[in-house]
Amino acid sequence: MAEKKIIAVIGATGAQGGSVVRAILSDPNGGYTPRAITRNVNSDKAKKLSDKGVELVTADASDLESLKKAFSGAYGAFCVTNYWEYFSPEKEKEHAKNMALAAKAVGIKHAIWSTLEDTRNWVPLNDNRMPTLMGKYKVPHFDGKAEADKYFKDAGVPTTFLIASFYWENLIYFGSGPKKGSDGKLALIYPMGDKKLAGIAAEDIGKCAYGIFKAGNKYIGKTVGIAGGHLTAKEMAEKLTKAIGKEIVYQEVSPDTYRGFGFPGADDVGNMFQFYRDFEKDGLEIRNLEVTRSLNPELKNFDEWLAENKDRIPLE
Ligand SMILES: NC(=O)c1ccc[n+]([C@@H]2O[C@H](COP(=O)([O-])OP(=O)(O)OC[C@H]3O[C@@H](n4cnc5c(N)ncnc54)[C@H](OP(=O)(O)O)[C@@H]3O)[C@@H](O)[C@H]2O)c1
Repeated sequence: MAEKKIIAVIGATGAQGGSVVRAILSDPNGGYTPRAITRNVNSDKAKKLSDKGVELVTADASDLESLKKAFSGAYGAFCVTNYWEYFSPEKEKEHAKNMALAAKAVGIKHAIWSTLEDTRNWVPLNDNRMPTLMGKYKVPHFDGKAEADKYFKDAGVPTTFLIASFYWENLIYFGSGPKKGSDGKLALIYPMGDKKLAGIAAEDIGKCAYGIFKAGNKYIGKTVGIAGGHLTAKEMAEKLTKAIGKEIVYQEVSPDTYRGFGFPGADDVGNMFQFYRDFEKDGLEIRNLEVTRSLNPELKNFDEWLAENKDRIPLE
């Protein structure tokens, strides 16, 4: 039997990378094997991977040499940065640049870079509908990733640029779940108006990425957006109500109100929602449901995701 192609996975202990590892493991005859990259091979999450027989390699995205070693001998690399650990597009760009340089240095045949749109192509810095943040960004956690696309392109790494959607897990872990609204009712409090938000089960990101690797050269040089559903916040609230059995309403707030909520990154996330709201058509077109399903026939919609996760959503 031919030797399996190694996919080196950054963020293997996290949501995106972890889902890539699990997608590869779920297809033992697919011809690929994951290599999990982590800063700490002794963490509980890393140990869970090694218990499943996954190769663990230590590397830090801020250390180019460590990434070269971690990518060495691999066919593919899944590259993701964790903006929410440092809240800095500059650091995110540095990390992505190191991933691109390491991929080039060791001859990676196919990298997937988990990027997002450059929202400044829709809302230039002088457009005051939303505040400019950190001096030169509109949505810092999007714009920095988009800027980093150039590192993969300039280095000549065969790359697919993967654009994910709002994880529905944000309802569980990211503070985006139902909260008591001003009238005391449980509410999804988003500045989305009546516009649709592209969302996805985080586990499907890895399945789509695996689909992209399996497609060979088809998506190299391409940008691929993915989503499991396009729903208004009102539709999300109605589905939550049905699944949980408690009334949850949609309470619309203005982007300004949302930016003022005061949690770390509220201005960044407020701008993100405003971008999705004001450019609904483009955001949804980029995240095409048919393309996503073709990459991942097991793609879950919001109802299916809710059926599995409804009991994990905190109701504050
Ligand atoms: N939440 C959403 O709706 C959404 C949607 C689209 C895109 N995103 C983007 O997704 C990214 C986060 O991905 P995630 O959700 O998979 O994160 P996560 O679950 O919080 O996991 C973060 C992962 O990054 C790894 N990591 C962090 N810093 C590292 C470094 N310096 N070197 C090597 N590995 C490092 C961690 O590995 P170790 O700790 O094991 O080293 C961990 O596996 C963010 O940039 C965010 O903007 C989020």
